[in-house]
Amino acid sequence: MSLLKLSDIGIVGLGVMGENLALNLHRNGFTVSGYDLEQPKRDSFAQRTGAAAPRSLQELVAGLGAPRVLLLMVPAGTAVDDVLAGLRPLQAAGDIVIDGGNTRFTDTQRRMAELADTGILYVGAGVSGGEEGALRGPAIMPGGDARAWPRIKPILQAISARTEDGQPCCDWIGPGASGHYVKMVHNGIEYADMQMICEAYFVMQELLGMQAREMGGVFAEWNRGELSSYLIGITADILAHQDPETGKPLVDLIVDTAEQKGTGKWASQAALDLGVTAPTIADAVFARTVSAVRAERAVAAEVLSGPQARFAGDRDAFVEKIRRALLAAKVCAYAQGFQLLAAADREYGWDLPFGTIAGLWRAGCIIRARLLEDIRGAYARAPQLANLLVDAQFARMMADSHQALRDVVATAAQHGVAVPAFMSALSYYDSYRSRRLPANLLQAQRDYFGAHTYQRLDRAGKFHTKWTAG
Ligand code: 6PG
Repeated sequence: MSLLKLSDIGIVGLGVMGENLALNLHRNGFTVSGYDLEQPKRDSFAQRTGAAAPRSLQELVAGLGAPRVLLLMVPAGTAVDDVLAGLRPLQAAGDIVIDGGNTRFTDTQRRMAELADTGILYVGAGVSGGEEGALRGPAIMPGGDARAWPRIKPILQAISARTEDGQPCCDWIGPGASGHYVKMVHNGIEYADMQMICEAYFVMQELLGMQAREMGGVFAEWNRGELSSYLIGITADILAHQDPETGKPLVDLIVDTAEQKGTGKWASQAALDLGVTAPTIADAVFARTVSAVRAERAVAAEVLSGPQARFAGDRDAFVEKIRRALLAAKVCAYAQGFQLLAAADREYGWDLPFGTIAGLWRAGCIIRARLLEDIRGAYARAPQLANLLVDAQFARMMADSHQALRDVVATAAQHGVAVPAFMSALSYYDSYRSRRLPANLLQAQRDYFGAHTYQRLDRAGKFHTKWTAG
């Protein structure tokens, strides 16, 4: 009989995220073992964490205390299926598998269906916070088989970030693929948030001629107020960073093409699938795609004309307008994200705890921001809030800031500076608050060419008109 202590949890996938989570678990008193297909990763893991790094999945599973808890930190996609297939013969009913990757929620749904008759308890957990978060405390969004929760709760809550009021940034999200869905929406908001910050920077640079260092100071200042957030903070750091070789701001030397792994695209696709209006999230994805065609843009810049105007207003006053515009646009993006969650909740019957979700995004994750405390409060007041924008506090916030958003969008448009996320946030706000939209004409057009019928304001029923005499 082996005298070796059985591990509390086994990690499969020893990249930086897996390794850092292992260190975090170890620091919190859990015994961990880890496995990776690649031997150098196993060696480095064993060296860095002091934990066991068995040479096979079989050994890994054999070294776990029952019911066995396995955390998969492998790249989303077929690698997860491969690991699950490898684990399957080694597992017994009651064992728990947590997929902690950025998995598409439809894959989690499929895997749960495939494991349904096995008694294995499957959990899809969104994990946010990057490498640093994994080490120091990420936000964790677990969902799936609720029978797993009592066993994994003390582990996941121990390693998660904590809010200022001491709450763990990890709570049970709901059944099915809800955990990964919530992480996908987190990333959709992350895309919008990042793009809007980039637009604020771009307007300051292009319109006001500000330099990176000065803008860094502006973001640092904003980070002390209502915009305070992780993304604003890192933006201040980035803008202040000098390239040691050239002495120039490093940001000025970085190629302006953004890459993406797909989570923002999935969020936008999910919004389209459910008929949810989330244009700012989608525009943030499109902003990356247009940035990616850099060579085409260079040609178009020679061919296409734009305005020649130079900004002539009060610079400091305009910087303050950008700050308020950013706040207004950010509220609109969050509203869209929560609308998407609400639609998914109705579609899949998850009974999502919106207030809890906002609460656990307050620390550890990439979109952590002061604003999330207010969002949590809004959902605590009205768990079935129709839209964040109609909460009294947020309606007031928008009343105070929508004019600044208009001014920034209008000025940017007049000067030919592209601000797609700001523009789309404003259009979202104006569409959503419009008692009447021009869809009456659109219905008539559909009926004209396709006999799709329309409804009337003055009587019930469906109508079709022969629109021309001929
Ligand atoms: C997080 C991040 C993390 C990662 C995303 C972004 O919450 O920790 O969202 O998951 O940075 O995958 O990826 P892309 O920008 O490449 O799509």
